[in-house]
Order: sequence, then structure tokens, then C-alpha cells
Amino acid sequence: VAGPPAVTPPEPPELPERPAEDAVRLALVDAARSLSGLGLNHGSAGNLSVRWHRGGADGLLITPSALPYDRCTIDDVVWMPLVPDRSGDPRPDGRRRPSSEWRFHHDLYARRDDVDAVVHTHAPHCTALACLPSVQRDGLPAFHYMVAAAGGADIRCAPYATFGTQALSDHALAALRGRRACLLAHHGMIAVGATLEAALALAVELEWLARTYALALSLGGPATLPADEMARVVERFRDYRP
Ligand code: 13P
Repeated sequence: VAGPPAVTPPEPPELPERPAEDAVRLALVDAARSLSGLGLNHGSAGNLSVRWHRGGADGLLITPSALPYDRCTIDDVVWMPLVPDRSGDPRPDGRRRPSSEWRFHHDLYARRDDVDAVVHTHAPHCTALACLPSVQRDGLPAFHYMVAAAGGADIRCAPYATFGTQALSDHALAALRGRRACLLAHHGMIAVGATLEAALALAVELEWLARTYALALSLGGPATLPADEMARVVERFRDYRP
């Protein structure tokens, strides 16, 4: 006696394969949205980017200009090619305009192999300190060993220049030389990293350092650690990972 006919289970519906770039766009939008919850930003202030190759072209994905992050979707993120010699301005690809600060994002990827993500915010304690003449002159000194997390014995403050200009990019790159974070006078801060996660974590750390330094200043002013100790800590950070 023949048994019941074999039942072939239905094919699972075909899911469209999510392009890798969309996953990176989503990570960028998620990181941008997380900034206000972390107390690092508000509204459309600040901007974020990641290095992203398309085909053979080196480039970056960057948040759009002037769009509050809670309204930003992955389709608002803009791709730009790197033009290392800056023979002309890169042509952005997207339905929005790229962040007005695309110059320092672009220039960091063009000049620094160790940078694959950039976070710029107007975090309140960083910004308040970046308005003080002493901080504009000397940066954040070695008042706490975690200053070394940015790669040196202090965290420099780039001189003021109008937002979105090449002058601001030039100042920022000079302040970030050999470092992963800096303050921007009368403006905010920049943190960079080999991953978006690392740049974001450093941005959080820098805002904590700024808040703590402001507190120490208000209590009479901190002492600082000697240069040889900071050199030891910088060395230890080279190996500090989970
Ligand atoms: P965008 O909205 O153009 O990114 O500018 C915000 C900002 O923080 C400028 O420094």
C-alpha cells in the first residue's frame, strides 16, 4: 500500500541580502543617535564618519549636514571619495549634503592610516573647557593618567577657525598629530579610532576627563603627573584591550 505522498516543505521566503554598506550606514546612524543619550551632543550638532571603500575607490561615509539625528536614516548618510592631493573637492554621493565638517573627516582618512572612524561632538564639558584661555594654550594636562588614552601626555586644543573651513581642518589635524583626540577652541572635540566603537568610547572618555578636570579646577586646580610616568602609561595603553 502506497503511503501518503511526500510533502515537500515550502521554500523559505528569499530575504534580500543586505548590502554590507547598509550595515555600516546603520551603525553610523545608531552611533549618532546614541550621542545625546550619552550626554555628548544635541540636535544636529557634531558629525560622525567611517572609512568606506566602494569598489576600488577609497572614501568615507559621513552623517548629513543640519539634520537632527533622530530624523536621520541610513539613506541620509553620504558617501564621498578621498581625493588625497585635494586637486579638487570630492563629489559627494547621496540625497543630502555631507556634514559641513567633511574637510577634517576627509583629511584625517587621507593622511592617517590608523584612523577608520571619526566622531566630532559639542560635548558640554569639552566645549566649556575649550573656551578657557589656559586650555586653549596648554590643552588638558596630565592631571589624570587616562589623558594618555588619547595617545600622549596631554590632549591638545586646536585654535579656533570658522566651522567647515580648511583652516579648521588644518588646525584639527595638527592638534591630533600622534593623538586620537583633541579639543577645538570655542567649538567642541574630536575623537578618532580604528573602529567606530573605539572612537565613540574615546569620545565618552574625553568628556569624562573634561568634566573631572573642570571639577578639579573648581576645587583649586589639580597637580599633574610627571612626564616619565605619562610615558609609561602611554606605553601600557598600546597593549590595553579585552
Ligand atoms: P553639520 O550638521 O554640517 O555636520 O555641522 C554640525 C557641526 O557640528 C559643525 O561643526
